[in-house]
Amino acid sequence: MLSTLRNLLALTAACLFAGFLSACDTGTSSNSATTTQPTPTASTTAEKSYTIGMSQANLGEPWRVQMNADVKAEADKHSNIKMIFKDAQNDTLKQRSHVEEFISQGVNLLIISPKEAQPLTEPVAKAMDAGIPVIVLDRRVLGDKYTQFIGADNKKIGKAAGEWIKKTLNGKGNIVELKGLMTSTPGQDRNSGFREGIAGSEIKIVFEADMKWLEPDARKEMESALSRFPQLDLVYAHNDPGAHGAYLAAKAAGREKQIKFVGIDALPQEGIAYVKQGILDATFQYPTGGAEAIQNAMKILDKQQVPREITLGSRLFTKEDVNAGGEPLP
Ligand code: FRU
Repeated sequence: MLSTLRNLLALTAACLFAGFLSACDTGTSSNSATTTQPTPTASTTAEKSYTIGMSQANLGEPWRVQMNADVKAEADKHSNIKMIFKDAQNDTLKQRSHVEEFISQGVNLLIISPKEAQPLTEPVAKAMDAGIPVIVLDRRVLGDKYTQFIGADNKKIGKAAGEWIKKTLNGKGNIVELKGLMTSTPGQDRNSGFREGIAGSEIKIVFEADMKWLEPDARKEMESALSRFPQLDLVYAHNDPGAHGAYLAAKAAGREKQIKFVGIDALPQEGIAYVKQGILDATFQYPTGGAEAIQNAMKILDKQQVPREITLGSRLFTKEDVNAGGEPLP
């Protein structure tokens, strides 16, 4: 009798602790219709199940495959999370409808890495209006109608690239800038940061083009640059696929040895490998934030306060320090 009473007290305390008193059935209530049901323990009642929608801009680039893998690896640590991944295949309209689908499905939380800022702003706001918290990853939307933004500081990376290039070229030279999609915020910030970084030098940007983050586009643009300018000293590409495309164009023209190549992303199997092979002179790390997105999603679903912005760090890798793990940006 005494031990039954002790068990009862312990269970009530556990229910109170879990904050689910109303969901707990101690089996003592005379009007309870569920007295024959097994009594749920505090841990099973606390372990609610959640569905998280992940809207990815495309999976045609290794960096985004890595982002989804990082999201999945972190989500796999939680047995109560069900992930639904949608790949917009670099189609803004498709990504808009993916967000709409997640809203009508009633997911508990949305993670989105939007292709472009403006067209994805409205669907994200609609999700928020429907009571679905939204984590925006890597590329931003406009305004402030989202729960949290996670990403590295692209302006800072662009500026660090500009400063490194200024130093490496001794303050002068002819540069090609191959820009990421300029309707996406990383493209805009990597461009404006870079301009700040080279300010006050005699570096000339003789050719610039939007290669939309894509290696084949970068290669074509570089072919034009090579045909127009006999003297090119360096290519600054907003991502490693862009820098690699430019390198291939220069190599085909027999000019790759006279030109330096700088990119951003630093995936081990991509940018870092290119630096080790002597293809790129430098790459700046751009972390995917996939793990952080799930860690914060869990807090949001648990009704905890999270910061509006999480800024991830970056590292610079050059041939001098790539084997030692690069160096952090100050
Ligand atoms: C992949 C990618 C990366 C780049 C990021 C910017 O789609 O182009 O290479 O760093 O997006 O959002």
